[in-house]
Amino acid sequence: MSDPSEVYNHQTIKDVLDELERTAVSRIAAAESAEELEKLRLEFLGKKARLSLVLRSLGGVPPEERSGLGQRANLLRRSLEERLKEQSGKLSKVLKPRAFLDLTLPGTRPERGAVHPITRIIAQITDIFEKLNFEWVEGREVETAFYNFTALNIPEDHPSRDSFDTFFTKEGHLLRSQTSTVQIRVMEKRKPPLRIIAPGRVYRPDTVDASHSFMFHQIEGLMVDEKTTFSDLKGMIHVFLRALFGKKTKVRFRPHFFPFTEPSVEVDMSCFICDAKGCSVCGQKGWLEVMGAGSVDPNVFKAVGYDAKAVQGFAFGLGVERIAMLKYGITDIRLFYENDIRFLKQFQ
Ligand code: PHE
Repeated sequence: MSDPSEVYNHQTIKDVLDELERTAVSRIAAAESAEELEKLRLEFLGKKARLSLVLRSLGGVPPEERSGLGQRANLLRRSLEERLKEQSGKLSKVLKPRAFLDLTLPGTRPERGAVHPITRIIAQITDIFEKLNFEWVEGREVETAFYNFTALNIPEDHPSRDSFDTFFTKEGHLLRSQTSTVQIRVMEKRKPPLRIIAPGRVYRPDTVDASHSFMFHQIEGLMVDEKTTFSDLKGMIHVFLRALFGKKTKVRFRPHFFPFTEPSVEVDMSCFICDAKGCSVCGQKGWLEVMGAGSVDPNVFKAVGYDAKAVQGFAFGLGVERIAMLKYGITDIRLFYENDIRFLKQFQ
């Protein structure tokens, strides 16, 4: 069959279409299984099906007859495709009866998850601060160097930028490496008095191991008013840590450096496992480092357009994973991100 038009001239094409129209539809409707339907699909629509040959041989038909026949053949093709789909839908709805159904067998319990420990700790911490009149706010994870560094008194080329290892994009954006960005985002839009608590993800290019992850969570706190002293900060942190870890918790402040606070401190709390006597959790020190804090540096106020002489504030930042690991005795940070139900179940 070198030239199909020899076999399928205008009359034979008509005959083929007539016959298909008569038989194909009812044969599809009578099909009882998916295998049967597949056979019919090949027979009617496959490469070697007569309808396909017809369509291919249309070129040999005189132009004035071609368009009418072509249209009819295409319509038929589409309608057969429709019907095959419809019938296969019908067949899949028919349930095959099982040989034997034992209704007395116990059912399979669906697995139950639980609130993720990170979500849980964020809720506990923000609850405490909301009782102290702090308001939950959120910033963005994709930021610019202005919010992550410059406005936080970390000028370009200043070596302290290196202490906040950061992911940069080719377009000059970055993934925030600290939630302190939210301080700037809020102050730039609003005037004091302010009391905010800002939980969220931060990113640093760390190699993943039991205590490092390239993504983790921080909670940032900021309070600004006409008069907000360092002793306000101390008081709030005492209240907070005792609410979270128990009334016996002692708190200690060590001098430190952060570019955006002056003076700056690192906050330790007495180890709640050994009651400050020394154990494996606190590395025999009796103290656990839990957060960074300090009085807002006047340069930060200037960067957001505040009158640095007229306002005072404090800020603090803590790592959520660290607090969760301490509180629940978790020794590998990776467990938080693997979503292993055996791990998550323990926090129900
Ligand atoms: N942003 C600091 C960090 O990531 C923590 C911090 C926040 C310190 C606010 C002081 C004040 O280490």
